[in-house]
Amino acid sequence: MSIIGIVAVDRNGAIGKGGSIPWHYSADMKFFREQTTGHACVMGRRTWESLKRPLKDRLNVVLSRSAGVEARAEESEAEQLPQQSQQPPQPQSPPQQQGGVIVLPDKRSVLALAPYLSCHLYVIGGDQIYRMFRPEIEQWIVTDIPLAVEGADTFMPTDFLQNFRPQRSLTLADELKVTFYERA
Ligand SMILES: NC(=O)c1ccc[n+]([C@@H]2O[C@H](COP(=O)([O-])OP(=O)(O)OC[C@H]3O[C@@H](n4cnc5c(N)ncnc54)[C@H](OP(=O)(O)O)[C@@H]3O)[C@@H](O)[C@H]2O)c1
Repeated sequence: MSIIGIVAVDRNGAIGKGGSIPWHYSADMKFFREQTTGHACVMGRRTWESLKRPLKDRLNVVLSRSAGVEARAEESEAEQLPQQSQQPPQPQSPPQQQGGVIVLPDKRSVLALAPYLSCHLYVIGGDQIYRMFRPEIEQWIVTDIPLAVEGADTFMPTDFLQNFRPQRSLTLADELKVTFYERA
């Protein structure tokens, strides 16, 4: 199990605008899906709300201090996916790792869950959640978006790749470059 950050950033380090991602590249969406399928994805409540439905075939771990998020998770889950859980799974009852939604109240609960995962834990944003998991993230997967989005309101910290070194890169369709980084 590794804790891996995955993000798409524009030329100015922007990741969001008005609560959503201000670009649409199907090649990057496909890459994200292929990279994260079968794994757990931890996200903030705002990013969760930007999704139309839970990420399929992934354990969706939503961080929120509000109990209200659970109801939405339950509704979505009931419609979209066969399994759900509201509490961190216990050791004798391993999490369903092919899908599902759990809402957790703090980082500590996520880190308590992590050892019981037999898959990777992808940190998928947004900004608050990337910042929160910076100390734990062992690898970053970064898509460079060839745009400078006007009016963007959510940015990665400028030094988020400090102490990481690039391992390999690949080019997706639309000439999108993805770089895999590991801790130096
Ligand atoms: N480009 C990309 O790759 C990418 C990826 C993901 C997201 N995004 C974008 O990023 C933006 C959203 O980022 P954001 O930073 O505004 O929001 P976010 O990180 O998605 O969610 C923030 C929410 O997470 C919860 N939270 C934060 N810290 C917590 C803690 N310590 N304990 C428990 N819950 C906690 C809170 O939910 P409650 O208020 O419910 O307590 C908080 O309001 C959107 O524009 C989205 O589209 C971009």
